Amino acid sequence: MKKIFIAFFFIAISFRTLADEGMWLPMLLGQQVYDNMVKKGLKLTKEQLYSINKASIKDAVIIFGNGCTGEIVSNEGLIFTNHHCGYEAITDASSINHNYLHDGFYAKSKQEEIPAQGLHVDFLIKIDDVTKEIEDSVKGLSGTDRRAKVQAVITAINARYSDDSKSILARVSPLFKGNQFLVFVYQRYNDIRLVGAPPESVGKFGGDTDNWEWPRHTGDFSIFRVYMSKEGMPAKYNPDNVPLKPKYFLPISLKGVKEGDFAMIYGYPGSTNRYETSFGVKQKIDIDNPSLVNLRDVRLKYMFEEMKKDPAVKLQLAPSYASIANYWKFYDGESKQLVKYDIYDQKKGQEAVFQIWAAGKPEFEHIFSDWAKAYDNWRPYSKQRVYLNEGIFGSPLIAFAASLRQLENALVRQNGGSVSEILNAIGESRKKFLAEENKVSDERILGTVTFMFFKDIDKNQHPIGFFEGLKGSFGDLKEENTYKKYAAAVFNNTMIFDDAKWNAFVANPDATVLQNDPAYAYASAFLKNWQGKYYSFYQDFTQKNNELGRLYLKGIMEMDPKKIRYPDATFTMRLTYGNVKSYNPRDNVHYDYVCTMKGVLEKYKPGDYEFDLPENLIDLAKKKDFGQYLDKQRNDLVVTFITTDDITGGNSGSPVMNGNGELIGLAFDGNYEALSHKIAFDPNYNRTICVDIRYVLWCIDKLGGASNIINELKLVK
Ligand code: ARG
Repeated sequence: MKKIFIAFFFIAISFRTLADEGMWLPMLLGQQVYDNMVKKGLKLTKEQLYSINKASIKDAVIIFGNGCTGEIVSNEGLIFTNHHCGYEAITDASSINHNYLHDGFYAKSKQEEIPAQGLHVDFLIKIDDVTKEIEDSVKGLSGTDRRAKVQAVITAINARYSDDSKSILARVSPLFKGNQFLVFVYQRYNDIRLVGAPPESVGKFGGDTDNWEWPRHTGDFSIFRVYMSKEGMPAKYNPDNVPLKPKYFLPISLKGVKEGDFAMIYGYPGSTNRYETSFGVKQKIDIDNPSLVNLRDVRLKYMFEEMKKDPAVKLQLAPSYASIANYWKFYDGESKQLVKYDIYDQKKGQEAVFQIWAAGKPEFEHIFSDWAKAYDNWRPYSKQRVYLNEGIFGSPLIAFAASLRQLENALVRQNGGSVSEILNAIGESRKKFLAEENKVSDERILGTVTFMFFKDIDKNQHPIGFFEGLKGSFGDLKEENTYKKYAAAVFNNTMIFDDAKWNAFVANPDATVLQNDPAYAYASAFLKNWQGKYYSFYQDFTQKNNELGRLYLKGIMEMDPKKIRYPDATFTMRLTYGNVKSYNPRDNVHYDYVCTMKGVLEKYKPGDYEFDLPENLIDLAKKKDFGQYLDKQRNDLVVTFITTDDITGGNSGSPVMNGNGELIGLAFDGNYEALSHKIAFDPNYNRTICVDIRYVLWCIDKLGGASNIINELKLVK
């Protein structure tokens, strides 16, 4: 068996760079990668892709909020991104009477645009390589000392490159698992306004059933605008601010796509782990992913029951529900695909090749035996960690209660000064918590996850005395009803929901009162148990895992120095390229590279939670009133298409461009067959799902009647 894997791995190595794998740093694009892009259909110069002196495409690509990408599409700072990226801003702007999430919204003039508080976008200014500075500072250091020094130098570099007065912020990103360090310097803008969004029935058409799936019929876009001060600087919201004059914005092509067309995507992929080990793959499949999925199942079920009943609760819980559901399905699918493609065995094969090379090299030969030990030491506690993060603190009440830990520390230590400061901050976060809290679902979550912790986590790891106490007051620990009664008691008696009790506590903060609060007592029992007894195992593990990861990659690069490599995603700007391409998801099944309006209508289910449609969409679609957005070849409106580009979460909202750098779509998802993509890219199955820009414009123009927005764009016909 082993030999076969080794032979297979060498073949795989030599073919790898030919596929469309790779999230390249646009500023360090090597000649070979650029030449390959040109061969595939790129018509632009390197300078047009990325330049620090002249305006280039990089200037039109922004970080949108905390985890998405957006692009500038007009000379007045207009932004396109995904509907699911604007989701929270759209819900925040909505109320039951003006339900923009449900009905959609288009500003017909700049005065109608809605400030999106808390939202910001970041423009990349420049990148410097600071590897040498960091490496020089850690010479002769190892282990904890090295780590601490690296952290200190990174902090200093970030401070040196940042300038609050110009809203410039810098972040050093360790690449190749800490074998290279680049500092990314951004300028942040805080006055962002909502300009438009389709109704949710278009923007999230297909809901969670269709999420991470192709074929797909979702109009996943939303529109914002970035404002600056009259002096041309980033500024917080002010009605006198003016639209940003961008260095560059993307023209939009109405020409559409055909099979084999070149397609490139810029954006901010969040994280990948393409050099993950066999140990890590096994850990995910056996423990981490199934635990997360089971716990999220419960949370989603209880939230959904309440959202279905009441549109106000739906608005309240929708953003948090969507993000929990998104990665619930992702991790479930990831495990399935890791198993299906035998990624564990592939990794074993790669590690065997490495081990042969490393034999006799003291720096590298111990890596895998050390790694095995690190996993052995951590594995027994790893499930508890998921149960805390996804279960116990998956209850919003308990997550909020846990945040009071700092207050308890301050009260116990009796240093009054910081108590009032902490209380002020908590007052704010309590307001936010209460506004987002649905007690009915949360109480059910609390009961059920406590029961699951009792059943699924090794008894030796339970917080001492906690379950015994519960038994004494509420009954048999094997009965679900015991946990229901307990959860009800927590919800009825905590001061967190009770303004009178809360205000009395704030007026006279006292450690004992806090410690006796049932929600705080619960959070603190689990938190202190973890911090006191298990956190050090986690810390040891992550430190060893990072250190070994860095060495492994260093070794891999020494083993095969000529191979052109891209660094794992780190939420830094990347460029990926490929082609528009159909695929066969399984034997005897073929998936075309586009979906059309015909399919939207086929999926339509009147009144359904996920597959309903706006009436005017149905009318116009039936009349085939597609105007200049019609795809002549299909005689239909193309709504989505797929490409072979290599993207991941964080790329959402990314511009998909043709060989001329014109916008042809927005990337918004990955396909189910390639959900193992964070760990292993599969050229046969990996596809990026994009909303066709012609569908986006049709929605704005024909459905939304917002010709003001269309007129702002630079259309290439
Ligand atoms: N899977 C998409 C992504 O991670 C998010 C899609 C949001 N839609 C949804 N039905 N939850 O980028």
